[in-house]
Amino acid sequence: MVKTTCLLIGLTASILVLSGCDKQPEPMGEKLITVSKTDFESHCQRCHSLEVPLRRNKSLEGWRETVTRMKEKGLEVTPEAAENIAKYLASVRGK
Ligand code: HEC
Repeated sequence: MVKTTCLLIGLTASILVLSGCDKQPEPMGEKLITVSKTDFESHCQRCHSLEVPLRRNKSLEGWRETVTRMKEKGLEVTPEAAENIAKYLASVRGK
């Protein structure tokens, strides 16, 4: 019984440590732009051209709302990619 408890505590601890390591430092600057551009190009021209978003300027909040709205229209995107796309657009088409 004692053994099982120790094992459980050990297991929980290692899961905690592992999930802590999972948080990689956020890519910044050039790297974020490059990564996010790929996300943008692979997600945002299925229904219309990339020109549609690139013709506009919005704040980061505005772009987040736009990506959310596109999800309602059927865009399939992970939360990470959605955030990358919003950041990318805010950096190249911000206001
Ligand atoms: C499932 C189809 C679909 C996908 C994928 C899609 N869109 Fe759209 N988008 C639409 C439709 C339909 C419209 C026009 C109707 C409207 O504006 O509500 C539109 C319009 C827009 C507009 C103009 C209206 C506005 O809100 O300013 C922008 C900007 C836009 N999309 C950005 C994006 C971005 C950024 C992505 C990628 C994250 C994307 N779209 C992916 C369907 C899509």
